[in-house]
This record gives sequence, structure tokens and C-alpha cells, in this order.
Amino acid sequence: MRTKACIFDLDGVIVDTARYHYLAWKRLTGDLGIRFTEKDNEHLKGVSRMASLDIILEIGGKKLSTSEKEELAALKNKWYLEYISTMTPREILPGTLELIDDLRSQNIKIALGSASRNTPLILERLKLKDYFDAVADGNSVHKAKPDPEVFLKAAEMLGVEADRCVVFEDAYAGVEAALNAGMICIGIGENDILKDAHMVIKGLYEMDLDKLIDLEKQLGNE
Ligand code: G6P
Ligand code: MG
Repeated sequence: MRTKACIFDLDGVIVDTARYHYLAWKRLTGDLGIRFTEKDNEHLKGVSRMASLDIILEIGGKKLSTSEKEELAALKNKWYLEYISTMTPREILPGTLELIDDLRSQNIKIALGSASRNTPLILERLKLKDYFDAVADGNSVHKAKPDPEVFLKAAEMLGVEADRCVVFEDAYAGVEAALNAGMICIGIGENDILKDAHMVIKGLYEMDLDKLIDLEKQLGNE
């Protein structure tokens, strides 16, 4: 196969923590008196904690000092950690383990590429650490998606060229990051939001080796 590595985003791809991020931001915006909708939340997916807060404050037309912002970000994270503290491997989204096993059987390397600084904790809770050959996350990468840094870093850690990598992403910013890295991108979610991706599916359960081979062929023929 042309594909040598698959890089998975975490939140919203492997586990539905995107929901918990939304609930924690919703709680914070409620306290701040800022109107915040699920549509606004789409712009936060894949975006780092501080950059997300900046977007929220912009929506609410509020200007705060750095220390006030740090306090709010810490509060949001405290609530988020409460939501994820009870998470178990049963919350791994359908199709994830099957797909990773199939990819591995073809000697395709597996990496994680997420902006989240909580990545190690989540992988631990989901007992997924051993599934990944490399993890690039918000602790090791500083430029936020749509910058390609996180995916390029993952590819570098694996020793695979960018154009041999396939990224699975649920965020608009993440799809752009993958494309900016020169990688194939499979969007997870709604076509109208992720239309720049090479292919959009509802969840990893819809993906298999045959579909990946078909996509490679289709892109090769373009
Ligand atoms: C992911 C999520 C974002 C989140 C970011 C930082 O990219 O999609 O919603 O803001 O990670 O997460 P953290 O766990 O570090 O606050
Ligand atoms: Mg995501």
C-alpha cells in the first residue's frame, strides 16, 4: 500500500471528549454571560485551550488580562477533567481498535496527533498507549492546527514521509492542518464542515483497508 502511516486525532475521533470540551466551555461561558452555541464550538475543535478561550472572549466581546485568562482556562480544564475522570476503555469509539489492528497487519504505523495537553491522561484511561508508535500532542507541539506542526512531528517521529501519511480528523482546523502538511485527510463528521477533506465518514467504524486502497487509487488517478 502507498500509505505507510495513519495519524489519528484524539478528541472526537477516538473518543467523544469533544462533547466534554463543549460542556466545560458551555459552563464557563454561562458563568461569563457569553452566548455560546454548538456552532461556535465547531471553531474550537482542534484548537488549543488558550486559543479556544481567546475565540470565546472575542465572541463575548470581552478583554481580560493574561492572569485572568489563565485562571479561566484552568477552571475550564478542572471541569473537563471532572467529566473525563470516569472514562473507561468502553468509551473508545466504535471501529477504532478494529481499524488500528487492520492497519497494523499491513505494517502501517500508527500515531496520535492532538492539540490536547491531556492526551497522556486520556490514553492511560482508555488503555490505548500501546497502540501508538508515536504520540505528538499539546505537550510537545506549540503551533496550533491549522498549522501542520503536530502532524509533521508525528510523521517525523515515525520516520515516514508526509505524503505517505493519512490523517483522521473531526475538526475543520485539523483537516486544514493535515492538508497543510501535504497528507491525505479523512474527515470524521459532517460533510458540510469537513468538505476540504479527501473523504468524509461518520466514524472510524466506516473505514477499512479496502476503502483506503480505493481512496489511494482515486487520488492517484486525479
Ligand atoms: C483538542 C480538542 C480541543 C481542545 C484541545 C486542547 O484539539 O479538539 O477542543 O481545546 O485539544 O485540549 P486540552 O485537553 O489541552 O485542553
Ligand atoms: Mg478532534
